[in-house]
Amino acid sequence: MKYSLVDGDTKSLNTPCLVTTMKTGRALARALGKADMFSRTVTDFKDQLNQTITVQLGGTVARLVILGGADDALTPDQFRKVAGVAAAAVTALPVKSAVISLERVRVKGMRTDAKLKTLMHACSQAAYRYHKHKSGNKQDTQLGTVRLHVNAKSGLSQTLRYGNALDQGLKLAKDLGNEPPNVCNPTYLLKEARKLGRNTNVKVSSLSEKRMAELGMGAFLAVSKGSATPGYMIIIEYRGTQAATRPYALVGKGITFDTGGISLKPPPAMDEMKFDMCGAAAVIGATRAVIDAKLPINLVTVVAAAENMPAGDATRPGDIVTTASGKTVEILNTDAEGRLVLCDALTHVQKQKPKVIIDVATLTGACIVALGSHASAVYANDDDLADDLLSAGQDTGDKAWRMPLWDEYQTALKSNFADFANVGGREAGSVTAACFLSRFIENTSWAHMDVAGSAFHGGARKGSSGRPVPLLFEYLSQQAQQK
Ligand code: BES
Ligand code: MN
Ligand code: ZN
Repeated sequence: MKYSLVDGDTKSLNTPCLVTTMKTGRALARALGKADMFSRTVTDFKDQLNQTITVQLGGTVARLVILGGADDALTPDQFRKVAGVAAAAVTALPVKSAVISLERVRVKGMRTDAKLKTLMHACSQAAYRYHKHKSGNKQDTQLGTVRLHVNAKSGLSQTLRYGNALDQGLKLAKDLGNEPPNVCNPTYLLKEARKLGRNTNVKVSSLSEKRMAELGMGAFLAVSKGSATPGYMIIIEYRGTQAATRPYALVGKGITFDTGGISLKPPPAMDEMKFDMCGAAAVIGATRAVIDAKLPINLVTVVAAAENMPAGDATRPGDIVTTASGKTVEILNTDAEGRLVLCDALTHVQKQKPKVIIDVATLTGACIVALGSHASAVYANDDDLADDLLSAGQDTGDKAWRMPLWDEYQTALKSNFADFANVGGREAGSVTAACFLSRFIENTSWAHMDVAGSAFHGGARKGSSGRPVPLLFEYLSQQAQQK
């Protein structure tokens, strides 16, 4: 989707479709000399939230899409719903472009720029299709351009750039997530990451299994070992400001398929474990958005890409490995593989002395039990970082909720044979996974996001959600602005 801004009087616009509220729509119809037709069409319309009606005006503004309930003052959550309804309506129409004119809608605590971001985000979500592997009937939305009507364009160019960048980042994250596991393996993720390296200020590199062995990454290699396809640590470095400025770091879990390994998973819904690289997809997508938006920050993104398979030479429950940090781990359950690939990635990225590290992972089923799909879990060793991430989630509707990282939970990881085990007991599984990761952070501001529930949908809506790309990109945009 391409977004642009348009100002001036709506009655002089030329568009196949204009989306607005009842009041503004009526005034426009009157100005165009079509008041009667408007009134006749909307006679029985309930002007309430979630209701829409299309008025065929003909002429320069061919159609009006009226959004119910949008003339009242709205909460940000209500506005996000209205934006979603608007986006669903325009992407379903047989039109190539549309104008959205909602600048008059009053939203508590949301300024014009925030409202525009919300509208663009909603259109990007609604326009997304994934049908690469369907042989026929590839029903794309015809909508390719959305023009946002504003009172004055000045001061909004950055907002526009944000919307276009998020669109691309979200699409990339969703495409990577949805790709089947026989296509999207670690090599494929590396190839996709390399595409970002076409930008002059971006460098993409990778660590092969051989190199990882030299670096002592025994935890990562214990996971990758059982797979016929090689694992990679993928590193994307973006320079948006002076080289000496400490980078932000994103780290993603990129298990391109998680069978559980020797601790094999049960068959139901195992196909959904192709989504076990959604953390990687999200950090790659957010990186794409940062690059497109040319944010004035430095960013290093590390993806731990591997496949978790059972095999004759796969890791056994009880095996003990030495991680890149030097700490030893007893692998009691090979299905707790995400933390194993991530711990070596975390150790590696800290060599770059990042200002902040955020790792993103579909780490535990327990996270889904705790929070369902509406919120991503946030764990952090820094209250300010946690607050910033939660508020970026609020601002984008990509919600997150903080979970505890108290010392009391650390005891669950006790091992009789190694420094600690890779699993705790049945209790607080998402927390003990975060505790495991925390042991690899040395004096750095760090947050871990467990997105097992939020990064993809199962059932009839099965597919990648692209989350938490909106949260991450909003957070980094706000950080860039604060400097
Ligand atoms: N990838 C899974 C977690 C997961 C499950 C994500 C369902 C999304 C949906 C992870 O590798 C895993 O298997 N975790 C285990 C940990 C356990 C062995 C301590 C789990 O959650 O059961
Ligand atoms: Mn697993
Ligand atoms: Zn997994």
